[in-house]
Amino acid sequence: MEFSRKIKIAPSILSADFANFGAECRAIEDQGADWVHVDVMDGHFVPNLTFGPAMCAAIRPHIKGVMDVHLMIAPVDPYIEAYAAAGADVITVHLEAGPHIHRTLQAIRNTGKKAGLAINPGTGLDAVAHLLDMVDLICVMTVNPGFGGQKFIHSQVDKVRSLRAMIGDRPIHIEIDGGVTVETAPLVAAAGADVLVAGSAVFKGGSVANPAPYGENIRAIRAAAEKAV
Ligand code: DX5
Ligand code: ZN
Repeated sequence: MEFSRKIKIAPSILSADFANFGAECRAIEDQGADWVHVDVMDGHFVPNLTFGPAMCAAIRPHIKGVMDVHLMIAPVDPYIEAYAAAGADVITVHLEAGPHIHRTLQAIRNTGKKAGLAINPGTGLDAVAHLLDMVDLICVMTVNPGFGGQKFIHSQVDKVRSLRAMIGDRPIHIEIDGGVTVETAPLVAAAGADVLVAGSAVFKGGSVANPAPYGENIRAIRAAAEKAV
């Protein structure tokens, strides 16, 4: 994974056909997705339940590029090795998910994977400042985690701008997760984000049998974001 600030579109398979994950991953990559975003939820840290490590291992052979695993689980430390072994390239954990985030990020780096740090809409940047040497990606949640299809929280755009300034020249991606559409992508791209997660906005109108709309949606989001940079 070479570092670049070019806009990357990361469809969230939370909006895919749950009976067809392998084919859905192949379809979104064929249609231009840069990364595949996998939302892991535990029914405890967030009010929804999704994918375990076995599911990630099963879809891994269907993904040529980056598998971006977003862990919305607490506790998270006992599961890091399992998601690393399942083939994640990036493992992102929540600042709010445990008392020892520094240790958790260290544990991710020890597996040889890229370490991501996610922050909820209600979390400020002060704690992040002390973790910049520990992370490869910071995910700014622009919805409260748990569900796809929620409305983008506009107050987070200023946070992205401040985070971009805080990061300076460090090779750290800024990822945006939640409510990304053709309308909101330019706002966060202009503020300094480079990885745009999008679930409903990518999968709408398409299917494995008719994947062309995935490509149209990805191209539209990318074009809107790139115009704003
Ligand atoms: C929310 C997840 C997101 C979500 C994005 O907890 O982390 O990745 O699936 O979905 P949309 O793009 O529909 O808001
Ligand atoms: Zn996510």
